[in-house]
Amino acid sequence: MKIAIAADHGGVELKDALVKKFSSLGITDLGTHGGESVDYPDYGAALARRVAAGEFDRGILVCGSGIGISIAANKIKGIRAALCHNAYTAEMARRHNDANIIAMGGRVVDEATAIAMTEIFLNTEFEGGRHARRVEKISALE
Ligand code: RB5
Repeated sequence: MKIAIAADHGGVELKDALVKKFSSLGITDLGTHGGESVDYPDYGAALARRVAAGEFDRGILVCGSGIGISIAANKIKGIRAALCHNAYTAEMARRHNDANIIAMGGRVVDEATAIAMTEIFLNTEFEGGRHARRVEKISALE
């Protein structure tokens, strides 16, 4: 599985911790690097475009709250970016919503929670069935 990660300055610390923790998976780090203020739509859209194009199977996005960067990513056709806060939401994002991006807030979740959510997000399959019909209806809205 090819995985990319990106963040703005509000999420860079947590992003760097996730890159370190999951280094064995060969995650591609699309920045930002360092704490200088940047604009989350630039990072959310850049990663989302590459997931939508099939270059990456899954994406991880982090900003301060997780809100702005998930909104930006969801503007890209084919993207289902799920803003998650705990293990339950990360699991449902995959099982029910077939999310291809997980978004989280660097000022919201602690490192242990972020690691747990990422592990779940990367290892949980979509259930399909009635959920596939609903996801297809989301795609039809594009
Ligand atoms: C940046 O200060 C902050 O607005 C951003 O990281 C994010 O929380 C926006 O939704």
